[in-house]
Amino acid sequence: SFVDKGGHKYFMAKEIGEQPLAIGDTLAEYLREGTPGVTLPEGLDFSAVSRITMVACGTAYYACLTAKYWFEQLARLPVEVDIASEFRYREPPMPEGSLAVFVSQSGETADTLAALRHVAGQGVKVASVVNVPESSIARESDVVLPTRAGVEIGVASTKAFTCQLTVLAAMAVRAAADRGTLTEDRMAQVMAALRAVPGAVNQALSLASDIAGIAAELAEAQDVLFLGRGALFPMALEGALKLKEISYIHAEGYASGELKHGPIALIDPNVPVVVLAPMDRLFDKTVSNMQEVMARGGKVLLVSDGPGLERASDGVWKWLRMPQVDPVFAPIAYAVPVQLLAYHTAVAKGTDVDQPRNLAKSVTVE
Ligand code: G6P
Repeated sequence: SFVDKGGHKYFMAKEIGEQPLAIGDTLAEYLREGTPGVTLPEGLDFSAVSRITMVACGTAYYACLTAKYWFEQLARLPVEVDIASEFRYREPPMPEGSLAVFVSQSGETADTLAALRHVAGQGVKVASVVNVPESSIARESDVVLPTRAGVEIGVASTKAFTCQLTVLAAMAVRAAADRGTLTEDRMAQVMAALRAVPGAVNQALSLASDIAGIAAELAEAQDVLFLGRGALFPMALEGALKLKEISYIHAEGYASGELKHGPIALIDPNVPVVVLAPMDRLFDKTVSNMQEVMARGGKVLLVSDGPGLERASDGVWKWLRMPQVDPVFAPIAYAVPVQLLAYHTAVAKGTDVDQPRNLAKSVTVE
């Protein structure tokens, strides 16, 4: 189908902006009017599942890492997450009661497909979260959970990623319902949080012009660190990946608590540190990690929400106010500033945002 940039300079900008709609369309598949709770395709029932193995590459792998927090917290299901190129040759055993979930925008990534073929035929249910329903990965799965991101052209995945997160969030909520792990009150809150995702993502988009200003300075950096805790740790990894991919600035993502075990040695006034810190039960811990960075001359960009932000942002280089959301699905909204930061930094550097050097949209050979 013909897709144009719709007045944007790059497809990536258009695709970042399309996220509230894409997520809304995706949610509509799983939250059906007149049906309470989450509707999944037939054949997927979590009451028979005792563990989940999730496999993917690149940005889709970070969607899986995020979902691990959701499945564990909400549904008390143990989850293993693996990079497809490792999984396919390690050939890990799949005990009875395992559900294997493969996540892929294209549905054609060679390593992910090979990993799926290793699992298929072992008596394990194979589910896939794909954006291309007629893809190889979809065809070879027992259950297909579509993302409705529409065609994604930019090599660096944005809307497909947040739609993957949305489907995985919905699956985790359904798993919690099937397994009876949440109180009625908490279930109602979590459902409301799921429905609130498109709105939160839409609000986060309004940070674009502030982020463009920050990115003009970030473009001067040689190295950038991203920190996050809990389900924001994978988003720190994604932030670093995106920045590397399209601006060619060296970046690393770390779990905030791991800072003292290495990366703190890198801190100096030339290394910007992006701290992703929603107001959850880990916020104070993240703030204290941030203060360790500032005490060593590091310049912090704090991305956070909530009433404590002014106090917490004392002494930081820059801060961005995120919309207030239930922390459970905050990672989906926090994907937006991470994407915008990479995008505007790349634009400031003048790189080819949609076609970064050496990268392919879909890696169909090993
Ligand atoms: C490539 C793309 C990434 C994508 C990854 C996995 O590396 O550049 O944006 O995340 O492949 O692709 P998939 O189609 O399996 O999600």
